[in-house]
Amino acid sequence: MHKHHSALGLAKAPNGNSDVAAIVEQRPVQPVTLLRPHAAKRAARFFAEKFPGKSLYAVKANPSPDLLKVLWDAGVTHYDVASLGEVRLVAETLPGATLCFMHPVKAEEAIAEAYFTYGVKTFSLDTVEELEKILRATKGATDLNLLVRLRVSSDHSKLSLASKFGAEPHEVKPLLMAARQASDALGLCFHVGSQAMSPAAYGEAMGRVRDAIVEAAVTVDIVDVGGGFPSWYPGMEPPALEAYFDVIYRAFEELPISYSAELWCEPGRALCAEYASVLVRVEKRRGDELYINDGAYGALFDAAHIGWRYPVKLIREEESNAREMPFSFYGPTCDDLDHMAGPFELPADVQAGDYIEVGMLGAYGCAMRTGFNGFGVEDKVIVGDEPMASLYGGFAERERRSNVVKL
Ligand SMILES: Cc1ncc(COP(=O)(O)O)c(C=O)c1O
Repeated sequence: MHKHHSALGLAKAPNGNSDVAAIVEQRPVQPVTLLRPHAAKRAARFFAEKFPGKSLYAVKANPSPDLLKVLWDAGVTHYDVASLGEVRLVAETLPGATLCFMHPVKAEEAIAEAYFTYGVKTFSLDTVEELEKILRATKGATDLNLLVRLRVSSDHSKLSLASKFGAEPHEVKPLLMAARQASDALGLCFHVGSQAMSPAAYGEAMGRVRDAIVEAAVTVDIVDVGGGFPSWYPGMEPPALEAYFDVIYRAFEELPISYSAELWCEPGRALCAEYASVLVRVEKRRGDELYINDGAYGALFDAAHIGWRYPVKLIREEESNAREMPFSFYGPTCDDLDHMAGPFELPADVQAGDYIEVGMLGAYGCAMRTGFNGFGVEDKVIVGDEPMASLYGGFAERERRSNVVKL
């Protein structure tokens, strides 16, 4: 774990972590990212124990080297990388990690460097042209794991990934046959869209996998169900993750190749959403609008651009007794688009100078921060309290109890 040299010189709670109230006492001027490595570790342990196959962390969700090390220490050995930048980052941060280059459209130079310099052998593709590119770039390598990405519906998900990538049913047979010839291990993969709100998303996509295998009549060694596993946000409360794993396991078991194939998944959001929240300061109030010091060009991209809501909490020395009311936020830049409609429910007496914790920003939020308008600087502090919501609560309690030594 990197030491974060906090400009705030923060007091530490008895467990060695800073506590959020102590951070607020320092009255930070910039937004502060609150990191909860214990939450990321718990999510990784959950997938390791309960997903009936191998879990690859989708690095794009949060590429922080600190997080990568937490996941590695928790047993995540495989990483889904989508760019040469991510290949280099993970290879340098975790030299023992296995990297899988799962972007279906790659630069030939990126494939070559990934293969020859970093030993990447697993690539996804959705066209014959990409297959040819991979073979050219690797100089006809014979030790490749090639995963053909199928286009599947995003109907059950909050963020569609159905338009850009994936082979159509009529394209799959020739592609699978060509990839079989060229690969050591052949796989099928898909992505049901991010924040899939129903396990049925995976059941339906596995139907596409079955059709593809039957039609092409090839041996498939890997079935990769991608990402899409949800987290918890206000107004988006998904079923338990075990329900997703059950549907996937049952569908996998029914495939004609299940006896010899490996099952993989590529969770991004589900492994890191609970890892980080952001502490922001209110700089101005105008009625039910709060002008805060982070926004659309910071960690609140999804709140601004796709109207996502996040849990919020007013952090004051003395708790407010005011009733709650809905607020919207303006971010710090000079741009009207820097607006988060919410609504965000907070005590009615919120005012300039108050601090608000915005929860569940560990996935994508923190990863998409820019420096636009000079507002990108922020402090990072590790805290030991619980995230504002968790899909792993019961699991945490059980793990804690199983660690108690009985005499
Ligand atoms: C190929 C691939 N795998 C995994 C993920 C992670 O998805 P999620 O964060 O929804 O789990 C993505 C996200 O875009 C992706 O493109």
